[in-house]
Amino acid sequence: MIVKYKGVILAAGKGTRLRPLTEVTNKILLPVFDQPMIVGPINTLKALGVEDICIVTSKEHLSSFMKFLGDGSTFNVKFTYIVQDKPLGIAHALLQAEDFFKGSKVVATLGDNIYEKVKVDRSALEDEFAYIFLKDVAHPQRFGVAELDNSGHVTRIEEKPKRPKTAHAVTGLYIYPDDVFEFIKSMKPSERGEFEITDVNNHYINTGKLRATKVDGYWLDTGTFESLLKASIIKALESDPDMFEGIDKNAMIAALSRV
Ligand code: G1P
Repeated sequence: MIVKYKGVILAAGKGTRLRPLTEVTNKILLPVFDQPMIVGPINTLKALGVEDICIVTSKEHLSSFMKFLGDGSTFNVKFTYIVQDKPLGIAHALLQAEDFFKGSKVVATLGDNIYEKVKVDRSALEDEFAYIFLKDVAHPQRFGVAELDNSGHVTRIEEKPKRPKTAHAVTGLYIYPDDVFEFIKSMKPSERGEFEITDVNNHYINTGKLRATKVDGYWLDTGTFESLLKASIIKALESDPDMFEGIDKNAMIAALSRV
């Protein structure tokens, strides 16, 4: 069987918002209840049927990832490791995996994003479109924010706007055709010196090739102390609903997953 899609987990960020924890390990290896955070994105990719996965990380943390994940056999997937030399943003991290994809469709996820459930039509893994996954949130200014027209098409995405025009956060899961690498090579860094994934998504809007779907179930970005703690409590409740006596599991998860 020829599978023309592969996955990548982007795990090269500095994790500055989680210092001092990230002075001793990579953010994506920090615990979310009883597992390192990266188990979340691995499960996301597996749920989409992606089994050939590369991990992009910094040189400093490469050996820790390899020690935990190995070749992937214990997760029933295959892992390949790629180093990003400089922390120049999500799009730049993705570019490091160009040779790994060699003509395959790209399913990329951020290492600190956890989804309760994900689903895409199989065609999304094979066609020439880019896909993003939206979630309505209470604090959109922390994320990429999508504007939609009356028929639900995304017309523009703003990265962390001070005054968000909508509540539709662009979550950290992206599907791209393999021409994404050519576009990234033509990009310029943003004011904060990073190659922004939002610029990649706006490129696909401009070329009429971006499709968006809504995320069902909760979505967590575990990049801050508060969100990391909330994610741990959610995972603990999922593993043992009676862990916290007198707490209604579903009500608690609904409250904790409001981002
Ligand atoms: C990144 C993206 C942003 C997206 C978010 C999802 O931001 O730049 O568009 O909404 O991930 O987690 P970061 O959290 O890396 O600052």
